[in-house]
Amino acid sequence: MNAHRFKELVGCLSAGKRLPKAVYVHVEALGSLDGELSSFIEQLCARMEVQENGHNVVKFSTNEFRVSLLSYPGFFETPHPVLSSSTTIELASGETRFFDYSKRHNPPILHRKEALLATTDPRSTAFRELTLMEESHGLYDTDASIGFKRNWEALLLERGLGYDGHTLIESQLEDAERVADTQNGTGEVPVIHRHRTALTRYSLSKPVRLAVEHGVLTKERTFFDYGCGRGDDLSGLANLGHTVAGWDPTFRPDAERTFASVVNLGYVLNVIEDPAERVDALRRAYQLTSDVLVVAALMQHTANAATCRPLADGHVTSRGTFQKTYDQQELRQFIEDALDATAVPAALGVFFVFRSAEERQAFYSRRYRRRIDWDALSHRLYPRRPRKRKLDSVYEEHAELLDAFWEQMLEVGRLPLAHEFDRHGELREAVGSPKRARRMFVEKFGAETLDAAFQMRRADWLVDLALGFFREQSLFRDYSESEQKDIKTFLGSYKQGLEEAKALLFSIADADKIEKACSQAAAGWQDHQDFYCHRDVLPDLAPLLRVYVGCAAELLGDTGEVDIIKIHMRTGKVTFLYYQDFERAAFPELHERLKVDLRRQRIDAFNHHDPERQQVLYFRSRFVSPNHPLLPKWQRHEARARKLGLDDRELMGPWKHELEALFQKGGLTPWLVAMRPHGGRSSPGCSP
Ligand SMILES: C[S@@+](CC[C@H](N)C(=O)[O-])C[C@H]1O[C@@H](n2cnc3c(N)ncnc32)[C@H](O)[C@@H]1O
Repeated sequence: MNAHRFKELVGCLSAGKRLPKAVYVHVEALGSLDGELSSFIEQLCARMEVQENGHNVVKFSTNEFRVSLLSYPGFFETPHPVLSSSTTIELASGETRFFDYSKRHNPPILHRKEALLATTDPRSTAFRELTLMEESHGLYDTDASIGFKRNWEALLLERGLGYDGHTLIESQLEDAERVADTQNGTGEVPVIHRHRTALTRYSLSKPVRLAVEHGVLTKERTFFDYGCGRGDDLSGLANLGHTVAGWDPTFRPDAERTFASVVNLGYVLNVIEDPAERVDALRRAYQLTSDVLVVAALMQHTANAATCRPLADGHVTSRGTFQKTYDQQELRQFIEDALDATAVPAALGVFFVFRSAEERQAFYSRRYRRRIDWDALSHRLYPRRPRKRKLDSVYEEHAELLDAFWEQMLEVGRLPLAHEFDRHGELREAVGSPKRARRMFVEKFGAETLDAAFQMRRADWLVDLALGFFREQSLFRDYSESEQKDIKTFLGSYKQGLEEAKALLFSIADADKIEKACSQAAAGWQDHQDFYCHRDVLPDLAPLLRVYVGCAAELLGDTGEVDIIKIHMRTGKVTFLYYQDFERAAFPELHERLKVDLRRQRIDAFNHHDPERQQVLYFRSRFVSPNHPLLPKWQRHEARARKLGLDDRELMGPWKHELEALFQKGGLTPWLVAMRPHGGRSSPGCSP
């Protein structure tokens, strides 16, 4: 079945609960559906071996080529069954995402169960009556986030309602029942000092910085900081000329909560001890957003739980603040469940939620499009000056204009469209058509530079489309005019491009191909099982390796600050290594390591702060491209390191303290240990 047919069949499903982005059907009602769709699901389950998760509801996406198999134990017995696990299958790529809700403190729940069953199912009568009763009590005419267990219970409590089987009854639930989970097992409810979580910032927070760096937050857009703390992001942005506003329940309780193009919910979710309030905060922030919501939360490995007491699904710190830490998949799933929207990872612990598919696509495209250094490329292709030919007089007369045009032509890898070169009219007057300007270029410089530009852009597009399968495929119409032109020029057609990209994506599972591509890389270093390179080398690697690393980066979001990328050639893993002051420290210290297991869709994060086992990086010139500007300087240092007996055939060397001892023994000053104060990576700025 292809995406088009799937959409068509889902569009005319006769049974199921239809929401804007999905149709939910109980497995027992599948038989009453179109035969093609139900047998497709049967085959899918058999092939994906997902039966053991006991799924009983199928969620058909209406706008994506995607199916989720949901497990609601006690579907027929409980009025609002609780979601215990989900398996999402991207049908284009075969990628599967499993999520276990069974230990979540506030899992999603189901309403209007009758809609999921066949109309002829006798059990649906009682369910329908319950829905009617709930409607008559106004439980569905509310702003509350009713899709989550705790939020629904809070609403019932507020209205004095409860259940007896499938009947709605007046009930006086004890408040104590509701807070039971937030107690510490001692009967005592700890006092939480949320305001103490807000630190004074001296630079922009990571999510806000990422929004600016990725072009998501520009000066033309308004910005609202939801839970702004002391307001340091606001003043920082205002100083940069942005139009900003913000609200915080502690520090700016009287400020108005206003709509904005970009809304930030930065490190707020993790300080809220009540899981129902987290859902509300997230949804309220999204309601204010017209273009992009930025969500950040504290990640597990950054929190120091040693001095903390466990409380509900988080812990209370020694300062009396609450911290609920997340892992990347958990945060993503939570955002997507609460907002019914796609959460795009921007970095570990930071997600962007775009209102429009077009903007989401533009963000992906920007992320994978490399900037090309044309001087370097031309120099590589033409170390000697090219021969001059007869068109020189025209060139000399319009040299500046033609150079600008050619530069743009090389940048886009094809003839620029009229709006892509703002001196188009001038060019037509000077030399006639853009095609003639291209001919002049070929005559002057030969076709190789142009071919190289074409091939690089083509590779960029294949990588982009392949990663599109891994996440969520855009429609051709979601692309801008320039991008549509790119697709036709570099790939023939969108269909052809997708086919080629799909083949590329599938080939990342082939360890032999990965190993071969690593061995052919023009830069980087490898031992018998892993390949290492600096982030700058990545765009010049084979598209296969870019997709392999890109798939891992998709799970993490932005990996822009990564120093070294490690490709585990045969085990489907990628590790991102972050060092303290990679460029300036003589022996950069390993700070953080994020390992992504593509086969299991799992991220493991490691801190490297143990002084007894502090790793340092040796011979970093092995990992960077041969034209890295700092290479000569590093090589001078490395020559001296060799004299100390350090071996550049090994990846690892002595721990930091052993290295220092080596210096002392040799009577050397620690010139190699720390040339400059460490910069390091910025922390999220939230005190545990
Ligand atoms: C760790 S601070 C983060 C502040 C700021 N966003 C930053 O990144 O610097 C958490 C903030 O969340 C605020 N907060 C707590 N509960 C909230 C809620 N339900 N809605 C919005 N903000 C909340 C607190 O008052 C506190 O200022």
